[in-house]
Formats: sequence, structure tokens, C-alpha cells
Amino acid sequence: MKSYQKLATDIPQPTESYAEEESIDGKPPCLRKLSTWWLGVGLLMMVAVLLSGVTMWMFRHMSGSQHEQTPLEKCSAVPEPLRFDCYPERNMVVTKELCESRGCCFIERDQPLRSRSGVPWCFYPPDFPSYTLESLNQTELGMVGLLRRKVKAYYPRDIERLQLSVEFETDTRLHIKITDSTSPRFEVPLEVPQAVKRAENPIYSLEFSKEPFGLLLRRRASGAVLLNTTVAPLIFADQFLQISTILPSKFLYGLGEHRSSFLHSLDWNTLTLWARDVPPMESYNLYGAHPFYLLMEEGGSAHGVFLLNSNAMEVALQPAPALTWRAIGGVLDFYIFLGPDPNMVIQQYQQVIGFPAMPPFWGLGFHLCRWGYGTSNETWQIVKAMRNYQIPQDAQWNDIDYMEGYRDFTFDPEKFDTLPQLVEDLHKHGQYYVMILDPGISSTNPPGSYWPYDEGLRRGIFINTTQGQTLIGQVWPGLTAFPDFSNPDTYQWWLENLNQFHTRIPFDGLWIDMNEPSDFKDGSVDGCSPGELDNPPYVPAVLGGSLSAKTVCASAKQSTSVHYNLHNLYGLMEAKATASALIQIRGKRPLVISRSTFPSQGRYSGHWLGDNMSKWKDMYWSVPGVLSFNLFGIPLVGADICGFSGTTSEELCTRWMQLGAFYPFARNHNTQKEKAQDPVAFSSVARTAMKEVLLTRYALLPFLYTLFHRAHLQGHTVARALFFEFPQDVITYSIDKQFLWGQSLLVTPVLEPGMDSVIGYFPRGVWYDYYTGSSVNSSGESLKMAAPLDHINLHLREGAILPTQKPGSTSWVSSGNPLRLIAALSQNASAWGDLFWDDGESLDTFERGDYSYLVFNVTQNVFTSTVLHANVEATYITVDVLSVYGVREKPSRVTVNGKENPFSYLDNQVLTVSDLNLNLSQGFSIRWL
Ligand code: GLC
Repeated sequence: MKSYQKLATDIPQPTESYAEEESIDGKPPCLRKLSTWWLGVGLLMMVAVLLSGVTMWMFRHMSGSQHEQTPLEKCSAVPEPLRFDCYPERNMVVTKELCESRGCCFIERDQPLRSRSGVPWCFYPPDFPSYTLESLNQTELGMVGLLRRKVKAYYPRDIERLQLSVEFETDTRLHIKITDSTSPRFEVPLEVPQAVKRAENPIYSLEFSKEPFGLLLRRRASGAVLLNTTVAPLIFADQFLQISTILPSKFLYGLGEHRSSFLHSLDWNTLTLWARDVPPMESYNLYGAHPFYLLMEEGGSAHGVFLLNSNAMEVALQPAPALTWRAIGGVLDFYIFLGPDPNMVIQQYQQVIGFPAMPPFWGLGFHLCRWGYGTSNETWQIVKAMRNYQIPQDAQWNDIDYMEGYRDFTFDPEKFDTLPQLVEDLHKHGQYYVMILDPGISSTNPPGSYWPYDEGLRRGIFINTTQGQTLIGQVWPGLTAFPDFSNPDTYQWWLENLNQFHTRIPFDGLWIDMNEPSDFKDGSVDGCSPGELDNPPYVPAVLGGSLSAKTVCASAKQSTSVHYNLHNLYGLMEAKATASALIQIRGKRPLVISRSTFPSQGRYSGHWLGDNMSKWKDMYWSVPGVLSFNLFGIPLVGADICGFSGTTSEELCTRWMQLGAFYPFARNHNTQKEKAQDPVAFSSVARTAMKEVLLTRYALLPFLYTLFHRAHLQGHTVARALFFEFPQDVITYSIDKQFLWGQSLLVTPVLEPGMDSVIGYFPRGVWYDYYTGSSVNSSGESLKMAAPLDHINLHLREGAILPTQKPGSTSWVSSGNPLRLIAALSQNASAWGDLFWDDGESLDTFERGDYSYLVFNVTQNVFTSTVLHANVEATYITVDVLSVYGVREKPSRVTVNGKENPFSYLDNQVLTVSDLNLNLSQGFSIRWL
């Protein structure tokens, strides 16, 4: 490292500790750059002071240039938004003595002591000792450094020497890892791409602070500081890892799984990540863990940060704005994605965790489920009634009711005696069957009567207690053992069970529930052994206050590590085993829907948002939920339509079916002993409205399928927040009551009772009513629209071409129907769209080249369809109708491939050319003059 000369300026000087900077390319940084930096800091400071949000980074420097302060002065000078909690322990009174025993500042505030939110009473003083960066050397991909702790931290087994490694992996991706320099620690077993060469023109720069150690990451183009970890001490003890950073804005998203608005509050908000079975509640850890955030910077650029760590953790957000990661194990392994636009951030994230699987076409159809279909015949009745009313339905599901004694891989020989026939009937009608599986394997059967348990025991594939006995908990079937999906032998056992069961019930997809894993006996039937895994020195703010609350003991033994490290990965590993088994059994694309999830899950499964309630508020929560999972690389996501627990109403269920028709994964699911809420349970008015909106979804399936192809290929989101498309429009940053499909279909649901209108925001540009083609030219405004109970507002963005299809009552029927292409002209009369098309179910069609891909264009009054890749599938389909929205003048002629064709033109500037009968596999052009 090179030392800087001190600079003579009238803005605050760096202290010794900051007088070191290493430029990213390892060359001595130029002086001019530093002065610009300081000038920037000065300006920023002025703004910050005005907003009373001076950053601690600056604060530290200011404190260095002032008179010798007393400890109290030093503490009081820390602005409240910048007080980093030194005593995050809950359920205890933090006294002055306790606080000062950690060497921290104690200043009481008039708020309830240790409330979950609020300015901390006990916080780090600016000079709290941390690590020193002792050396920094170049490597092929970046740098490697050594950190040494100055004084002992207040958690046991704090690590004295840490290794810092920095890899400039791509121009937009940076990888920073901090771990014990001498002993290996647990790392998430995720295959991540390895960079082979150092980025040549990174759009970021990284600076290092030596004393105390810290990192400062900037976006080169804007100079914005994206991370500054010098604001609070780095702590790295065996079971307590903490690092804080200043954030460049308050526009932060992600960090799941939680129930919250899409845009997180930074008002002393702590988000905990520890997979947990609980009906979604605000502020608590839920089913999955996603340590990833996306942040919108000033000016519309975005970046993302992923902490690859599966241990229990919490993320503390505070108004500085700042963020603190607190994990209780593993390593600090960060991937940072520089975008610069939000879509690119999510793509870059998925380049690391993996792109989502391509779902089968039928997976995008409508799914019907409930807990409490008493018999297979009752289930069958619903299917028949749905067919009778010709309401679209692709899959019928069964919950645990089908099982005998709630045991996996069994079905009730009396109540579900006709299940094989029901499944056969579904298949005959081009429909599919999905059933639930829970991980808990019943352990109380007469020996020899339940192969899954007996054989599991014999093969040693269950999770064990610390003493090496099978850990027994309790789930639906009573006492249960839990398969250890980190063990490769478990894959084989799971496959054999599924294979065997499939010969009796040829299911098409699997719903894997309770896989946090849920255990009704906290820890196990015998509790957990005393020790630092079950009772760690620090317990993040998990619901129930203990790691074993409603799950198995953290100390439990799995084949590759302790449950303490693997807990958050349980759902991911089960999904992987399940998808792989389904592929081997059916030889087709699998549909797996999982409750618990972790980064990279999208490669194996989709997700539903768990046990919501039949309430209007819950319907709203589903929108931020769906949007968040699109950030997490799991685009196949939806909530239980009409609500799971509680009683729905006809109005709520109608509105929810309308919204749910635009969930990427659309399933109506209900709890037991509640009134039926499938479409056929309602009045003909409601039923018709539900049928209509499902038909609209089915009409849009070619578009939706193409979006999933893009998600699979490039990591695009399917359900997309408005700001992804309009990052310059700050109004869109907090919108989570509307969303887009892809770039261009705006969905504005009604989320409140008793409404016949809805207010929606329209970013600048022309928007066309999807149904009629009438347009509105928005300057970026909120508009009130009619929204009678049988209508959901859908708008097309100017410049889009959507492939739609005459809908049928299954996706199989739909997929053979003629297409209608809808072009929504931009203000310069152009448009673009595409279509990915294949057989809808074969494995790896894109990878094997067995697909068709078409691009549609409009320029200068000519619509063209160009076939970029062809296979036989496209030859089965015809294009019947072209609708062009926004044709300003009535054409006098229309020609199709040069030949005159009839057309119609409406006053709302919609041109329609019908009866085309063009084969999709042949390019064509349609001209209007
Ligand atoms: C869990 C699931 C729910 C299911 C129930 C019974 O609560 O989240 O969807 O219906 O278990 O299996």
C-alpha cells in the first residue's frame, strides 16, 4: 500500500487511519482524484448536515480534527441516525454498566427500553477498536489482505487474524470475502461461477482504510459511495459476525423472506433471516432466507449486495441510511453487483446463484387446491364442475388429506380410493395432478409396515441428535424423523420412494411444504442438548427467541455439517432432490413448489407465499411478496388466491382471482373447515368474472411463457416493479400496488373493498387499454379508472408487441389455438416483441435447440414477423389476428405479404386485420397504407 500525502484543504482532513488508499488497479492513486473526493465529501457534508444525517465516516474525521473531547462529548456528538447498536441482545435491560463493559456509549432516550425499533441506547463510540489491515497484496484476480484484531471483542472466540480477499470478477461484479485466516469455517455449498480473469474496466472503484480496517466502494460514473464499512467496527467472532455500512439512499428492497412493503423502512427496522413455519406476520422471520438487497441510487442507477451465508442472521436498517449485517456463523462472503440498472443487477445476481428453471407450460395455467377435500370423489366433483362451466384449470392439487395417517407416499384407501382414477381422468383431459409432500417421515409404525422410515433408518439418511440417535420431532403424522437432504444417499432414497409411489399415483408435480423444516416440538421430542449451537452467545431476533423454535435443534447432525449451518438450506436441498427425482421419473420438466427457499432455489422450484389470510390487507401484501421473489431469482411465485385461513367473501375472492390471474404462479388454496372458495362455489356473476379473468390469463400465456424463457435464459424478472422500467422516475420507487409483466403489461388491481374505481400511476408515455386499445398519454401521473367488479385494469406500454392466443380451458387446448398479435405503437409508430415457443414440457428445449423463436417488429406502417429459430412446434400454430393500437389515421389499404386484405379501423385508433391464417413458422409482413 502506498501512503498519501496529507492534503491542505479547508475541508476536514483524513486522520492517519484514512491516509491510505489503494486504487483498484494497484497504481498509486492520483492526488487530483483524492481532492475531488474530498471536495465531494465536503459538498455531501453540507447537504448531509442540512439533513442532519452526517455520515459516521465524516463524523469520525471531524472528531479527529476537533479539541480533545470527553467521552460523553464524544458519545453525544454521534448523530442519532448514526448510532450503531452495540447491544442488540433482546429480552434484557441494557444498563449503563453492561453497555460500558463493552466499551460503548450509553445515552438513554425516552423510548421503551430495548424496543425492537428506535435509536439504540448503547452504541459504538467513533474510536471503538476494530481490525487493522496489516497487508494487502495483488493477486491475479484482485487482492488479498490480512486483518488483525486490535483488542479482544466481547463475544467468545473472536478471531485474531482474518483473511480478506477481493476479486474483481467482472466489470460489474465484485467479490469480497472475509474469513478466518488460519482455520476453515463453514461455507455455503453453492456452486458459483469462478472468474478466470480480472475485470478490465470495472465501473466501480474500491478503497481501503487501514486503521480501522474498512472498505469504501464507489461507482465510478457518479462517484457515489455505495458501501463504506468504516462507520462501525467489524466484529468477527466464531458465532458473531458483524459488519456495517452506510447506504447511498433509502431505497432498499429485498432481504427476504418478510412481510412488508416492497420498499423497506429504514426507520430502525431489523429483518431476521431464519427459515420458520409461521403464518406471515410483519417484522418476523418467515419461511425462506434471502440475504440479498437491491438499492436504488440517486440518479436512477442501482446496485445489489448478496451475502452468501446460510447462518441465522439479522439485518439492521437505520435512517442514516445505514445497514448492519449480523450473522452467527459462516463467513462474510459478499458479491456486489453494479448494474447499473435494476434489471441488470438482478441478472448479475442470478449469474452467481443460477437462473431459474424453465417451468412446464401447464405450470403457468390455473391451479386449484384446498386443505379439506374430504375424499378423492369430492376433489373430482370440483374438477368436473370447473369443466362444466368451462373455467380454465390446468392442475388439481391435493393437500395432506389424501394420505393415510398423514404419511408421505401413502394414500387413504377409503376416502381417496378413486385417486388413481381421478388422476387418469385429469390426464385424459389434458390436465395435471400435483400433490403435497412433507419432509417429516412418520416414525411410529409397526416395524416392516412403512418402508420410507424403515429403509431410511437402515440407510442412515435421517438427521441425528448430537448423540447420534435419529432426531424425532412431531409434524402432521405424529412423531417423525427428518430426511437429511445434504446427504447424497437421501436423494436416492427420496427418488425410490417417489418412483414407487408414482407407479400408483402418477402425479405430475410436487408441492413441498413444511420444509423449514417445521417441527411442532421445539428442537425435538427431547428438546435440545445444552451447548453453544442451540444456545449461541447471540441469538438474532428470531420469532420465539430461540433457534429451535418450531424446528429441529441447531445442534442436530447432518452429513455435511450441523443443522445450525444448514437450517436455512433445508428447503433448497429438498427442492433439488425433488426436482431431480421428478425429472428421472417423468423425463419432463418438473413443477415443484416449495415453502422454504434460499438463493439459487429458482433452479429447482417456485414458491408460494404461505399461510396468508382471507383479508384485503393480505391480498395487498402478496404484491410486494411476488415482486421480492422476482428479485430473489424465483419468478414462479404467487400467494394463495382468495386467502388461506379465515373466510373469504365473494367480493374479496373475485378481486383476488383478478389479481391472482397475474401472479406468475396462480393457485387458489384454502384451509380445512372453511367455506369453499373455488370459482364454482360462487354466484354466477362472480363465477363469470373469475372465468373471464382466467381466460385473459390464458390468452396471455404465450407472452408469459416468453417472459419465463427470458428469466431462464438471462435472469429477467417476470412480475416486475415499475421502477425497473422507469428508474429515473422516483415516484415509481415506492409503488407496490401495481406491477408489470415484463416490460410492458401494467396490472392495476383493486385491493380494497367496495370500490368501483381504482387509482393507478402511469409513468411518462403512452399507455393503451389492453382490452380496447384506447390510449392515454401520461406525463407521469396518477389516474382514476373505472374498475367494476368484473374488471381488472390492464395497460400496454407503448412500443410493445404481445403474442396472445385464443384461450381454451386448459393450457393444452389453448396452445393449439390461433394467435392474436397486439402491437401497441410508440409515439414514433414503432413496436417490438418476441415469442418463444416449444412443446411446453420437454427438458432443455432451448439448450438442445428444439424451439422456435420469433421477433415481431413495427416500423413505418409495416408489421413483420421474423423467425430466428424454427422447430416443428411453430408449424402447428397460425396467426389469425393482428391488432395495432395507436394507428393515427385510417389506412386506405392493408396488404398481407403483398396481397390486399380486409381490415377494420375504429375511432380509438385501433386497426384490426383478421382471418389471417398465417403459419407461425413462416415469416410474414403486414402493411397498412
Ligand atoms: C401448511 C401449509 C398449507 C397447508 C397445510 C396443510 O400450513 O402452508 O398450505 O394447507 O400446511 O398441509
